[in-house]
Amino acid sequence: MLSWFSRTLRQLRGDNPFQGDALPGRVSLFHPGHPVAPVPTPWNYREPLRIFEAFYTEAAEAEGDACHSRYLDLPGMKPVLVTRDPAFIKAIQAMTGDKPGQFDRDTAPTAGIGRATGTDSLLYSNGAQWRYQKSLAAQPFSRSNLFQPQKFAGFEQTFRKTVAQRLEMLRAAQAQSGEKRTRIELEPEIQAVMLEMLVNNFFGASVPYAELRDRFVPALVYLIDHMVRDTVLLGLLPLMNRLTGEHRVVRQHAAAFEELTDLALAGRAEGRGCWGDFESDASNAALRANIRVFLAGAMEATTSFAGWAISHLSHHPDWQEKIFEEVRHLHHYDPDDFTQARSLNLVLEETLRLTPALYFLPRRATVDTWVETADHRRMWIPRGTHLRLDVWNANRCEVFWGKDVTGYAADVFAPERWDEMKKRGLSAKEMLHFGFGYGPRFCPGRSLGLLEVGLVVGAMVKLFRFSAAYPDTPARAGVSTKPGDGVLVDLELRG
Ligand code: HEM
Repeated sequence: MLSWFSRTLRQLRGDNPFQGDALPGRVSLFHPGHPVAPVPTPWNYREPLRIFEAFYTEAAEAEGDACHSRYLDLPGMKPVLVTRDPAFIKAIQAMTGDKPGQFDRDTAPTAGIGRATGTDSLLYSNGAQWRYQKSLAAQPFSRSNLFQPQKFAGFEQTFRKTVAQRLEMLRAAQAQSGEKRTRIELEPEIQAVMLEMLVNNFFGASVPYAELRDRFVPALVYLIDHMVRDTVLLGLLPLMNRLTGEHRVVRQHAAAFEELTDLALAGRAEGRGCWGDFESDASNAALRANIRVFLAGAMEATTSFAGWAISHLSHHPDWQEKIFEEVRHLHHYDPDDFTQARSLNLVLEETLRLTPALYFLPRRATVDTWVETADHRRMWIPRGTHLRLDVWNANRCEVFWGKDVTGYAADVFAPERWDEMKKRGLSAKEMLHFGFGYGPRFCPGRSLGLLEVGLVVGAMVKLFRFSAAYPDTPARAGVSTKPGDGVLVDLELRG
């Protein structure tokens, strides 16, 4: 009680709740310069990137750490700390885990995901439950498992075949149209092929492509949007849906999601796809939440990644040609072999830097915690603080990624910056873009995701030349970021 009073008093006085020599700067709730309020509301939640932007409106007047780490401290609520400082982002991720005193993943911004997929998944859970799920579910995706040469080659070939078949359909439609160029929104095509690789190639199901594209993809897209709305409306959405009759649509899509989860799990009994290597006594029920997360989350993240890469390339024909020269005779792709398809790898790296799929990583302080960066700056973070590791703005900040450091402006797409950084002695290990996270909660699907995205982008370039429909592509964001135009491009067949 006393601590509640002293906290509220401190909040009313406007004292900084953080301590140390790297103090964050205060953000006011009402400021005429804010693009939108710096908290999600039913009116601004569709513009999360602008909510983050609001944290930095007053930052121009601040100096040093107060410019890059910002906090909001409202009476009756725990402080919210947003940081775009890569050193703090790295330190906090390294200190996230199940050990006493470590940070949790903050479940507040993903409450809707938890309600839709189950709270015991690898993505949503914390502490002992997370450790259990990690030991259970991370193994089939791990690099050491997936990238055993023979196994990798097997998946690579089936994935490649799937991508080729789908792009062949696009090619045939283009050839039949008789037009030299066709305008097409690629996002739905990417979603379908990503889901097909996961469900049929990886989990060993055999769902017809038309059903995946026309039934399961729309169900997942609907539910992912529903999860975002459900989070912001703090559990009131089911009631609102009842009043409007929308609950029937939700129920229909949720049933499709369950069916797809069953189809993905069905291969387990016969050891199909990745299940052949899955050694565990865990029941199917214990795996369900994870399978749901893998289906919805992986489709979302890989679509975002591939969609952005294709979108960036549609503005950069020179990089399309460089990649074409590499992939035209390539019949085997290993995303971790940097000597192979170098331009493709640079483009993918730069895509994740400039337009990361997951634009922020949420954390929560489980106890009062000191955090120290590698360059010895320290910040004391009070228990309960909601941390938002703002990867989107960190990677676009001129101070950390700009011309002086990398040779190119931070907010432009320039794959050549990675070569320049190398020349300057800056390794990718030092310059982290956090596209797959960092530390104990690093993405277990990285190898699988990179393979899928590399194959899709490589195959697109091999068959087509494509240019963006409009000179600028704005970003939109929900669970992940996406090109705002749905990857609208003019396609032209090569050769
Ligand atoms: C290729 C595109 C992908 C991107 C850009 C991506 C990105 C990320 C990032 C940034 C995180 C860390 C989140 C955090 O620290 O809070 C993460 C975690 C996670 N990813 Fe991915 N991911 C991708 C693909 C996949 C795939 C294909 C799967 C599985 C099939 C997957 C499953 C997961 C899971 C379960 C977690 C949570 C891990 C944990 O908390 O221990 N991801 N992903």
